[in-house]
Amino acid sequence: MNGAFITFEGIDGSGKSTQVRMLASVLRLRGMDVVQTREPGGTPLGARLREALLDAQEQVDPLAELLLYAADRAQHVRVLLNPALAAGRIVLSDRYADATVAYQGAGRGFEPSLVNEVIALATGGLKPDLTLLFDLSVAASGERSRQRTTTGEATPSDRLELEAENFHARVRDAYLQIARAEPERVRIVDASLSVEEIHAHVLEIVIPFLENRGQWTQTKTQ
Ligand code: TMP
Repeated sequence: MNGAFITFEGIDGSGKSTQVRMLASVLRLRGMDVVQTREPGGTPLGARLREALLDAQEQVDPLAELLLYAADRAQHVRVLLNPALAAGRIVLSDRYADATVAYQGAGRGFEPSLVNEVIALATGGLKPDLTLLFDLSVAASGERSRQRTTTGEATPSDRLELEAENFHARVRDAYLQIARAEPERVRIVDASLSVEEIHAHVLEIVIPFLENRGQWTQTKTQ
């Protein structure tokens, strides 16, 4: 049986990671077999690549960056995602290939054809069944990122967090463009609301999606 592959996307500070955790715990309480993962860093190799990618100490060349995200994804797809989906599990991934289109394509300016080729190579064609795009203005996301930095949740050295505002504006626009191009797969969630309101909206999307696939468990097991 095929599982379900749900990805979470958005600009930095959009609050998606909190929402992945909240959804995973709701689904697990219902007894569903959930795999919670992320990119970069969903495998042991990926965790080492993530450290290298987000380290502020060394400037990573944009082409090296594109290929390192692809390497992380190739390992993730083959070692974790494909086996989990083949086993019928529900996979929630905090970022996937849309992030490369948005950050390396629109953000860094790589040709869409090159970006798509690299993505196709890394993913082997694996696409999410559903993508939740947490949309937030660049100003609001910058404010949240600054708050996380001062509360110690993120280190000020996270290199990409320090990118200029117009970089994040291009990334946001690219995400919205993906959502317009693929409205069936990509659902936009207003990330300016409270954590609880956003969570409710996530459930409004995910429960019917799983019901339609016969993957929503009706009874609580705990
Ligand atoms: P995170 O903030 O979701 O943990 O992601 C870490 C950073 O990595 C974030 O700034 C976005 C960036 N990123 C890319 O630039 N390209 C990619 O393909 C992925 C997966 C992440």
